[in-house]
Amino acid sequence: MKISVIGAGYVGLTTAACLAEIGHSVRCADNDEIKLALLRNGQLPFFEPHLEYVVSRNCNAGRLQFETTEKAVAGAEVIFICVGTPPLENGEADLSAVANVALTIAQRTTGYCLVIEKSTVPVQTGAQLKRQLQLYAGKGLKCDLVSNPEFLREGSAIQDFFHPDRIVIGVEREEAAAQLREIYRPILDQTFKCPVHAECTHTQKPAWIVTDTNSSELIKHASNSFLAMKISFINMVADLCEAVGADVTKVALGMAMDPRIGPAFLNPGIGFGGFCFPKDVQAFVRIASKAGCDFSLLKEVENINKRRIERFIEKIRQELWVIRGRKIAVLGLAFKPNTDDVRFAPALEILRSLVREGAIVSAYDPQATEKAKAVFPDVRYCASPYEAAQDAEAILITTEWQEFSNMDWDRLRKIVSRSLIVDGRNMFNPAELTSRGFHYISIGRQPAFSLDEDPPIAPSAELHSALK
Ligand code: UGA
Repeated sequence: MKISVIGAGYVGLTTAACLAEIGHSVRCADNDEIKLALLRNGQLPFFEPHLEYVVSRNCNAGRLQFETTEKAVAGAEVIFICVGTPPLENGEADLSAVANVALTIAQRTTGYCLVIEKSTVPVQTGAQLKRQLQLYAGKGLKCDLVSNPEFLREGSAIQDFFHPDRIVIGVEREEAAAQLREIYRPILDQTFKCPVHAECTHTQKPAWIVTDTNSSELIKHASNSFLAMKISFINMVADLCEAVGADVTKVALGMAMDPRIGPAFLNPGIGFGGFCFPKDVQAFVRIASKAGCDFSLLKEVENINKRRIERFIEKIRQELWVIRGRKIAVLGLAFKPNTDDVRFAPALEILRSLVREGAIVSAYDPQATEKAKAVFPDVRYCASPYEAAQDAEAILITTEWQEFSNMDWDRLRKIVSRSLIVDGRNMFNPAELTSRGFHYISIGRQPAFSLDEDPPIAPSAELHSALK
């Protein structure tokens, strides 16, 4: 099928490349000329595992091209809208990019067109889009408007696209659902050859969920808000554990064994970040309030999350007493591992706070240094964790990159001026780090607590194995 994807960001580019991979002929558009030039040159504007490979093999096979929005929309029969919906100052989503695409579609398309809204939008946006298309369209444009929210996680977007848990669509007509089903058939049936299959863990057939447009739009915001709520919940449990002398890893594990709760998103830490959860929770509160529902539960989720940074800084302050003039190594800048995205990254908030208090900060991240530099230039960025840790009085773990689990602890202990680790992601085993000579502080756990005879395993590994 010939498909146009508007927007070459995390969602659009992944969608375009993966749709091309399963056999469609895709034109991917963006109105950022610099981004288009990069993509045509075989370069990606951001880091996402496997994406470069999938883009390049589909460009080479002639199934994926990059165009301006006007060109990609002209005469198109299937259009995915994947443009950004950033937060406005009042917390609502800015829908101007979505509205602009609708206008371009209305002006440039004739005949039949299936318009698929994939950007994360407030409920009832589909109805507005449809109205806009009808108002501005020339004679002869007939279109179906479908909501098809994305559930891609940065860092594993390719795996999530090829092997999703569910594909949700919101439609008004059965014919539109049938067309969408045809587009996704290789994924629904899992009949395509996955180019990164060896690394994919979730390969059962996805659920196909067909709803009305409003419900589909709500599913996206409700899902992200629920996951954010889980994180804030476990973060509060972690604080309680610290107050009463319990271990949040064990508590989370005990909770996770109940299939109604499950193990995912029970890792406490410095809070959720990124371009999705903070803005989506905020937007969902606004959507609810406009509809006359006071979603105060979610307001508290936000408040708890905001307090994570100060609570983490307080842990550092308790150890160092005065932060001004102290040498601190910050390991991790991205909002989560396997991405270079620093938007709303808790690590950057921590960095900002330390610099404001006068700390001498050295930072390292395997991928996100350039993006962090662009928003926050006044820090010494290093080429390795060892360079960052040289003479440091504290090492902070702010993103749980796999690379950090393989660090040479003996080497680190020799180069720091004080063997203190404050781990905001509960990456390491307290007993093990203590036995290696570090004073190790984490979130909601006892300093070197172990009831097991064998050395305890790291919390996320424990939770992950509970998942299997
Ligand atoms: C999230 C959702 O997981 C996707 O399903 C959704 O499609 C996407 O938003 C979106 O709306 O586009 P993403 O923001 O890439 O994906 O990242 P997550 O893996 O969900 O993590 C979000 C934040 O929560 C990160 O800062 C992470 O460190 C934090 N987190 C996650 C925790 O603090 N604890 C956990 O247990 C899990």
